[in-house]
Amino acid sequence: MLTTRRSLVLACVAALAALSSPLALAQAPIVIKFSHVVANDTPKGKASEFFAKRAAELTKGRVKVEVYANSTLYKDKEEMEALQLGAVQMLAPSLAKFGPLGVKEFEVFDLPFIFDNDAELHKVTQGPLGQKLLAKLESKGIRGLAFWDNGFKSFSANKPLKTPDDFKGQKMRIQSSKVLEAQMRAVGALPQVMAFSEVYQALQTGVVDGTENPHSNLYTQKMYEVQKHMTLSEHGYLGYAVIVNKKFWDGLPTDVHGQLEQALKEATVYANKIAKEENDAALEKVKAAGKTQVYQPTPAERLALKKAMAKVHKEMESRIGKETIDAVYKETGFDPNKL
Ligand code: LMR
Repeated sequence: MLTTRRSLVLACVAALAALSSPLALAQAPIVIKFSHVVANDTPKGKASEFFAKRAAELTKGRVKVEVYANSTLYKDKEEMEALQLGAVQMLAPSLAKFGPLGVKEFEVFDLPFIFDNDAELHKVTQGPLGQKLLAKLESKGIRGLAFWDNGFKSFSANKPLKTPDDFKGQKMRIQSSKVLEAQMRAVGALPQVMAFSEVYQALQTGVVDGTENPHSNLYTQKMYEVQKHMTLSEHGYLGYAVIVNKKFWDGLPTDVHGQLEQALKEATVYANKIAKEENDAALEKVKAAGKTQVYQPTPAERLALKKAMAKVHKEMESRIGKETIDAVYKETGFDPNKL
């Protein structure tokens, strides 16, 4: 009898041990659903795949990152809600998409002409100010982990956009940012907020006349097929914050945290390294396709645009917060009084 009871106990102990053995754990990986709205063949698409690969390697298969590209799982607005509800664990929305969440400070990145180049931008995104901005997401149940680049935007439309006057009456698709809305209104255009996944069709059917994008987005969504003109204005920046559901993140084992942080660190270096190359290559492909006339504005034309749009900085001060705008100016040396 005693022997039977003891063998039963031993059998239970063995079963429990088997359940927590590396083999059993390997059979049930921690799944991270990473949703995004752009094509795989873009800086964000490639960086998220890179992250998934390194996460699997560094955690030795304990974590499986499933990347859902091209709005296949959720569109812009829905993906933010899905993250907060825990239906997906990770996203990298454009910085313009945090305003509707109530974190208006992020719209500082949308201010026209606020960054002259990558070096200025990185002082903010890769420095203490960037960390301070990411921390603002905590109250929304979100942990901000990193900033990934896409790049500087060009305007596109079916007519040449060279002077501020050329924008008058043009219906321009924008991301969901009040700053971008003000930027378009500053030159007399009619801004239309629209999910990224709907832009191609809206351009094709004439629901909107034009838009603004880094070249990788314009090319991979085939917008160049339905836009006759493009101006290399580099008037604004589009980049991403990599974010996770805070509750999910806090619940991960400590060693996994460290491994994922390392994977993300590597993915961030990779993203910011390839972003410019990807955008340059996309521009060459747009040119080669021959459907869009690509125009390089003269310094005087670019300055005229800058002067027309600069008032948006002041206009948006109460929304974004003067403190945040000034902190960026301090890092980058931008002076609105010296244009
Ligand atoms: C857009 O909506 O234009 C962009 O935010 C898409 C993206 O994620 O790059």
